[in-house]
Amino acid sequence: MLIDGHGRKVNYLRVSVTERCNFRCQYCMPEKPFSWVPKENLLSFEELFMFIKVAMDEGVDKIRITGGEPLLREDLDSFIKMINDHNPDVDLAMTTNGFLLPEASQRLKDAGLKRLNISLDSLKADVAAKIAQKDVLPQVLKGIDKALEVGLKVKLNMVPLKGINDDEIVDILDYAQQNGMKVRFIEYMENRHADQSLRGMHGKEILAKVKEKYTIRALGREGASPSFNYIIEETGYEFGLIDPHKHDFCESCNRIRLTAEGFLIPCLYFDEAMSIADHVKKGDIEGASQVLAQVLKDKPKENRWSDENTDDEDISSRAFYETGG
Ligand code: GTP
Ligand code: 5AD
Ligand code: SF4
Repeated sequence: MLIDGHGRKVNYLRVSVTERCNFRCQYCMPEKPFSWVPKENLLSFEELFMFIKVAMDEGVDKIRITGGEPLLREDLDSFIKMINDHNPDVDLAMTTNGFLLPEASQRLKDAGLKRLNISLDSLKADVAAKIAQKDVLPQVLKGIDKALEVGLKVKLNMVPLKGINDDEIVDILDYAQQNGMKVRFIEYMENRHADQSLRGMHGKEILAKVKEKYTIRALGREGASPSFNYIIEETGYEFGLIDPHKHDFCESCNRIRLTAEGFLIPCLYFDEAMSIADHVKKGDIEGASQVLAQVLKDKPKENRWSDENTDDEDISSRAFYETGG
């Protein structure tokens, strides 16, 4: 079992397979091009898997593939199959923008993927295009349909932004409710790569919009998840709110992140990271395991997103597209 320096059990590994993305979401990426990590710096699937095996053997039983956009990495289903073949009981999921799902869903399902979290910020084509800086909505909706059709379990993620999609909270909730998916509303997390004019919605403001139509009751957190759940009294539907500005979920934080270059990251908020790249390239499992132990020992107690320090100097300069959120 993996235990960190604050006594928390860590069983969840988020693996970013590429930082590249076919969207340019305003809350995540700058509009103008910037340099991507050169392809030769990426760890191969075999190298990533070598570390994943170490982590699984030491107690990780929940793995999420992220990006950038993970489906841009060629042959992703073979990587999913490697993990699933090693342990079919692992909770194996992926977070995606959904654009490539019409074509990829069946292959992902066949390879052993169980769940998908898909970003859906608007149901209006022009608003979705404004946020992602590309006309994405029709294909994302097709992707969601296809994922459901092949039997993948789907959750939706929406980041409400003031003056942009704040009038669609109930619409997205109803869409998710009608199509058998859970939705989580995520407070915008300020970062240096986003459009600095963006203003996120506070959790309380998001809930107020839902309350204009429904009566809701708080259920609480589901295990170590950052999502706080609510139930709609009228329909029995459950949705979630991810509110990092309160950061009480850090108390039970169970996750670490691995980037495509091999950096192991103990907390999204801070810059600190240690590389396992040299170890896995040499096949040095013991060395990789020692880095893992060190990262767990140093894992910070909590993030510091707060209502007061939205432009805190300490917020990591690492972009969300490197870690997949
Ligand atoms: P489930 O296993 O389905 O609960 O997935 P998840 O919520 O772990 O994954 P997802 O990739 O959908 O993440 C949803 C949002 O939660 C993203 O915006 C993440 O950045 C955010 N999030 C997840 N973990 C953390 C965390 O440790 N700290 C902060 N601040 N945000 C987090
Ligand atoms: N704030 C909140 N959520 C974000 N995501 C990406 N960037 C941010 C941000 N700055 C979300 C995406 C995706 C999830 C992994 O992270 O919408 O659903
Ligand atoms: Fe791409 Fe996801 Fe970032 Fe949007 S949030 S630009 S889909 S990595």
